Amino acid sequence: MNEYLPGLAGVPATQSNISDIDGENGILFYRGYPIEELAEYSSFEETSRLLLDGRLPTAAELADFTCQLNENRRIKFHTRGMMKNLPASGHPMEMLQTVVASLGMFYPGSDCLTGGDACRDLDYIHNTTVKIMARLPCIVTMWEHIRNGYDPIEPRTDLGYAENFLYMLNGKEPDPLLAEIMDVCLILHAEHTINASTFAVLVNASTLANPYTVMAAAIGALSGPLHGGANQRVLEMLKEIGTPDKAEEYVDKKLANKEVIWGMGHREYKTKDPRATILQGLMDKFMAARGGDLNPMFEVAKAVEAVCEDRLAKKGVYANVDFYSGLLYSEMGIPADQFTTIFAIARSAGWLAHWREQLSDNRIFRPTQVYTGEPRRSYVPISKR
Ligand code: COA
Repeated sequence: MNEYLPGLAGVPATQSNISDIDGENGILFYRGYPIEELAEYSSFEETSRLLLDGRLPTAAELADFTCQLNENRRIKFHTRGMMKNLPASGHPMEMLQTVVASLGMFYPGSDCLTGGDACRDLDYIHNTTVKIMARLPCIVTMWEHIRNGYDPIEPRTDLGYAENFLYMLNGKEPDPLLAEIMDVCLILHAEHTINASTFAVLVNASTLANPYTVMAAAIGALSGPLHGGANQRVLEMLKEIGTPDKAEEYVDKKLANKEVIWGMGHREYKTKDPRATILQGLMDKFMAARGGDLNPMFEVAKAVEAVCEDRLAKKGVYANVDFYSGLLYSEMGIPADQFTTIFAIARSAGWLAHWREQLSDNRIFRPTQVYTGEPRRSYVPISKR
């Protein structure tokens, strides 16, 4: 096949049984379960196990996995020392990529992946999965304190995944509703077929690189504004618009200049992203719990969405997951430049599921290209140019 499709749009890069998107109808499934049901009934720990293993865990398996995640939260002081030496002005995604990449030096052992059957050391694969998933939220929250000049808050082993994240961020046990909302946010962001960052996982995994390098590559891809970085841009955009009555003028000006509206559009969905609908509902729930005290940015967001629906629906462009997530996180007091790190924490479950799937039937990625350069020619000595 020599046809070049920019962005590999519509080109299958792999076979996978982890998640599936019905883009026409706006439905997302993890291992066959609709995201709405997982958001309603599951927890991030359970959903992660589902993504990793392909089936819902038994009560004993879930308790065991949760315990392993809780017990693996401590961060070595060498890692903390390294974080203390990073520039506080750096973006948290840059910090996360750097620190995660360095973990491979602290936790060697990926040599067991080489050989005929890359997937044979299941203990290494499982233990590494737990190490990465358990540590990511700790690295992110520790950085928040370190970059502000404070010692980080130690993790607790008696709190759930979302609870411990909020505890380490704020230094106090979170309100149960906030922990529940964060848990749902993590579920919604845990997996999403073969997007740019997951493709980065596949490519890096296929070389049998160590899994921390694989994760670091994915974090780098996620950091871009066309991918995970959009949630931060959405909030900045809403603040720039300021009030709902300015939404129409702003959107029209952006479209006239051929600029994108952040948080709108998706390669796969031709209708509203189901995760955006769930997040919007969580926002309503959060506001109701606060006695209807409405964040003015929420009104601006609704106005932007209405204008975009009018102008962009004909192109199949609707609100995506990033449109409401940042708004929700900012309501929880989380700084805007940390929004994408939360995305990375959640997506680690999906990335690791794809890492395992790739290893189970591996062939190194080596695509081809359509050459558009000069025809063959001979070297010209510098004196004759
Ligand atoms: N704002 C305005 N127009 C948009 C748009 C947006 N956010 N997203 C897509 N469009 C328009 C494109 O300009 C294009 O119009 P055209 O046919 O007149 O040229 C059309 O819709 C198709 O979009 P295309 O760029 O081909 O989609 P894609 O699949 O290549 O890109 C995204 C998908 C996500 C990169 C793109 O929608 C985007 O940049 N969105 C904003 C960033 C974002 O929110 N990213 C998070 C994704 S979860």
